[in-house]
Amino acid sequence: MNPSIVKEVEKRKTFAIISHPDAGKTTLTEKLLLFGGAIQTAGAVKSNKIKKTATSDFMEIEKQRGISVATSVMTFNYKGKQINILDTPGHKDFAEDTFRTLTAVDSVILVIDCVKGVEEQTEKLMEVCRMRDTPVIVFINKLDREGQDPYELLDELEEKLSIKVRPLSWPIGIGETFKGVYKLYDGSFRFTETAKTKIGKEVAVLNDLNSPELAKLIGDKEADKLREDVELVEGIYGNFDAELYLAGKLAPVFFGSALNSFGIQEMLDKFIEIAPFPKFRESTTRHVNPTEDKLTGFVFKIHANIDPRHRDRIAFMRIVSGKFDRNTFYYHVRLDKELKFSNPVTFMAESKNLVESAYPGDVVGLYDTGNFKIGDTLTEGEKMIFKGIPSFSPEIFKELINLDPMKAKQLEKGIEQLTDEGVAQLFRQEPGNRKFIGTVGELQFEVILYRLEHEYGAKCRFEARSFYKACWITGDKAKINEFIRFKAKNIVTDKDHNLVFLAETAWVLKTAIETNPDIQFHTTSEFKDDVLI
Ligand code: G4P
Repeated sequence: MNPSIVKEVEKRKTFAIISHPDAGKTTLTEKLLLFGGAIQTAGAVKSNKIKKTATSDFMEIEKQRGISVATSVMTFNYKGKQINILDTPGHKDFAEDTFRTLTAVDSVILVIDCVKGVEEQTEKLMEVCRMRDTPVIVFINKLDREGQDPYELLDELEEKLSIKVRPLSWPIGIGETFKGVYKLYDGSFRFTETAKTKIGKEVAVLNDLNSPELAKLIGDKEADKLREDVELVEGIYGNFDAELYLAGKLAPVFFGSALNSFGIQEMLDKFIEIAPFPKFRESTTRHVNPTEDKLTGFVFKIHANIDPRHRDRIAFMRIVSGKFDRNTFYYHVRLDKELKFSNPVTFMAESKNLVESAYPGDVVGLYDTGNFKIGDTLTEGEKMIFKGIPSFSPEIFKELINLDPMKAKQLEKGIEQLTDEGVAQLFRQEPGNRKFIGTVGELQFEVILYRLEHEYGAKCRFEARSFYKACWITGDKAKINEFIRFKAKNIVTDKDHNLVFLAETAWVLKTAIETNPDIQFHTTSEFKDDVLI
């Protein structure tokens, strides 16, 4: 253990804010930056979300892509801690991007709209958090609207997200009568003015629920209701167990209105106290602790330059252990090659800054000319790869058809690079060099066609292929060869040359599993605990 690294690790909190689109992720992010002093006025950081209606507005996509580079990681200091917020795309077609970003964080804040409650994306995101036991804090937003009853919302969270909850703040009023939140965790109430672009001015702080001042501030009826609620909540939920939260088994819940800056500081203060420091990560050979001397890190996201004249990209690396230094050679394990980085950057709102050094929990942007793909690991010489960045089975499959035989080379290069970035998954089939592209959303296909044409000069089209699932297959070699012979038209390889079975229907897959007991069918490319039996 290196004491100077321990000190840096203990300072850091790296997390992502996730939500169903429109629940208020962007607004909350901005308000956290505002409270952290990283921005002076909310509304300055543009949203990176690709608007639902903009599926064919490519310029919009390009613009958004640029913005999302800048807002990919936002860092600020708050009460002696360094907070790294990793941004996730709101659009559901980019769910894979979100899943991968979640591998690079140590905890998440899940935003829920109090009017809509738990939505489809909320459930999916929570599933991913549960897979890795990621600690989750829930922020119930938009209390200034006539939303659902707080007790009902808490029940809905427990039921639909399969996690125990424990409110740590409580709303005073709801909708028109919403006045702020009471801090259940220390029994105090900060009364502030409503403020949309700034931090609301503090009017009073009360530390006693029975103080006559309370009724003066919020009204008799509200004061009685609050006292009743607090008693009830404490009775129902018992003590908050921070260990359960860190184990991903209990979600503390905060209420507020991101737009009006209510309930944010109350959450942030508790967040920095309870949220985990940068955690260890599993590699193919061992457990890697953040406080180790030597640098290790992995790439979880790659972003192409939005200017097509410069083919460089930015690879985002999460540092797992040790210290990263500019202009120092590190070992790229997959390529078995030493690389050094003269311009590593960190991001803040819309600006990029050169970094000299970075520590576990930090994310550095590395300029790349094609050396990286998602999941790549850098070390100081050790041969190991970090686990936990699998490919999931795509949901939509299409075959990529080249429309210009003269540009076959450009197409090859383009599709290789785009799929290295994780825009989509590429499966190849021989003979014939057929290329199947798998994604989780339609939008990716539009992005791919557009980028292939504009960045690589390759013209192509897609033909729909109705596959139900891609399953990675492993097991007895002879049996697999036999299976391949029977299912040749459904067998492809992924980019790492792993065998993949594209099943047309759930029934076909079920039959294949039943009739091939010596073959394992996996739903992700990382063959662990996910065998479909
Ligand atoms: P997202 O990133 O999760 O997709 O959500 P975003 O923050 O963009 O918020 C979605 C909409 O909800 C925005 O309105 C935003 O102003 C609003 N919103 C966020 N927090 C609150 C809140 O506490 N109370 C209320 N009433 N509204 C809130 P919009 O009309 O879609 O966009 P805009 O034009 O206002 O930016």
